[in-house]
Amino acid sequence: MSKSGFKGVDFGASPRMDTPPDSPEKETHTWEFPLRLKNTDETTSQSLSHRRKASWERNLVIPLSPGFRSTIEVPAVRSPDADSAQFMHHLSAAPSTKERRLSRNSFGASLPIPVSKRQSRLSISSTHEAGSPPREILTSHIQDVLADKVKAAKNMAFVFDIDGVLVHGDRLIPQGQQVLDMLNGDNQLGIKIPHIFLTNGSGKPELARTEQLAKILKNPISTEQFIQSHTPMRALAEYYGTVLVVGGEGYRCREVAEEYGFKDIIVPNDIVAWDPSVAPYRVFTDEERASSRPRDFSKTNIEAILVFSDSRDYATDMQIIVDLLRSENGRLGTLAADPVSQRIPIYFSQGDVLCPTEHPYPRMSQGAFRIGLEAMYKALTGVELERVVYGKPELATYKYADEVMASWMDALHGEERVPANIYMIGDNPASDIVGGNMYGWNTCLVRTGVFQGGDNDEENPASFGVFKNVWEAVTAACRAQLGDDFVFKWDERAVNPLMHDMHAASAVEV
Ligand code: G3P
Ligand code: MG
Repeated sequence: MSKSGFKGVDFGASPRMDTPPDSPEKETHTWEFPLRLKNTDETTSQSLSHRRKASWERNLVIPLSPGFRSTIEVPAVRSPDADSAQFMHHLSAAPSTKERRLSRNSFGASLPIPVSKRQSRLSISSTHEAGSPPREILTSHIQDVLADKVKAAKNMAFVFDIDGVLVHGDRLIPQGQQVLDMLNGDNQLGIKIPHIFLTNGSGKPELARTEQLAKILKNPISTEQFIQSHTPMRALAEYYGTVLVVGGEGYRCREVAEEYGFKDIIVPNDIVAWDPSVAPYRVFTDEERASSRPRDFSKTNIEAILVFSDSRDYATDMQIIVDLLRSENGRLGTLAADPVSQRIPIYFSQGDVLCPTEHPYPRMSQGAFRIGLEAMYKALTGVELERVVYGKPELATYKYADEVMASWMDALHGEERVPANIYMIGDNPASDIVGGNMYGWNTCLVRTGVFQGGDNDEENPASFGVFKNVWEAVTAACRAQLGDDFVFKWDERAVNPLMHDMHAASAVEV
């Protein structure tokens, strides 16, 4: 059993024996946890021999190359059946702690994630008024006096979902700003309490997204503390040369893929510009034609499909993806005799089926697009579509969050480690809470987003509780770790001797 009481299968662990996961004796297996460093020959050969032994395991094949990789592979384990099977009969879209259904990934799939590499440091500026001691001196004084609280503050951390917790699209949730002010030093210790952001959002480069959020939340947000759904997919740039990138507005996802280091990036518009008959219902504008990058795709092997964000044109994107999945090794204009052996892999950045918007009812999101593709592919080929899904609540994304958290702790406090007491604050039981619960974090569900239920969510109850908003959740967690007497406001007068004198002087004058 894992630290949180779940079985290895829930975490994407691989069984050590050659038996299908659905076998009745699965409860008695020893489960091998999945982190395999790709830069050691030994672990690579173990992983390959495991793949050879397990005939029932239909892996997405990750091309291997010799030498160092700055990535970790996290295998996923679950039923090989596509999600389309269940959705065709009922509409339970939610992964569930209760049903023990965590991953949307094909059994045996590998999800590479980057090993976090810090490139820069957040410059932490202090506000210093002329005539008063610098803020650092004052904070270090109070931190010396309250050393136990400081220790506890460095041993806790927050992981924030964004949409429905801190903001609604571009609209601020006021308690979001209040919380970040407090965690960034407006507290009794003047200390920065570590926090990172973990969103299933997508579609623009990390820097653009963090700048936009920092503006709304009026607090600094570094890309080093920020994970959106496709952020860990950066690792795939070491595995694939030519990729099709799908989704998002205009060419923003091409920009994202370029930043991630992908060498040869194709988007659906490039293909439509090459041969408009590929997408017969598409109205292709002159502007789109001029901004696309056509080439002779009958001479190009596309090695993988990466769905980074929501499709803006289901008909064109689905047609091109199905064409590629049915082709011989990703070459457009071909139709493979065997749909499986020559199929290229497909990755999705997240699996949310629905997403709340301004519309009264939630709109279909990337998960719905994927389920549609799975159904089409099965109908056309007779076989299940295997695929890899990143994002919450997938294990790989949470493991990557640990990487980012340790690195951020180093940047803030010079200690590269994951604090012991992590609190995930989310509004969506089916992604934030189920994932946090499975990963052994404390989970807090807020009522400012998707969740509109009663005392707690029945399928995926938040372990630390349900709160009216993010401020209520964060202050409750801080009280639990730092004591009921912790003050959520920096008060310079409490620690500045000069201000004491000034007060004394003004008292005399009066
Ligand atoms: O479902 C897509 C996205 O809007 C969810 O964002 O921050 O709630 O994970 P978030
Ligand atoms: Mg949310």
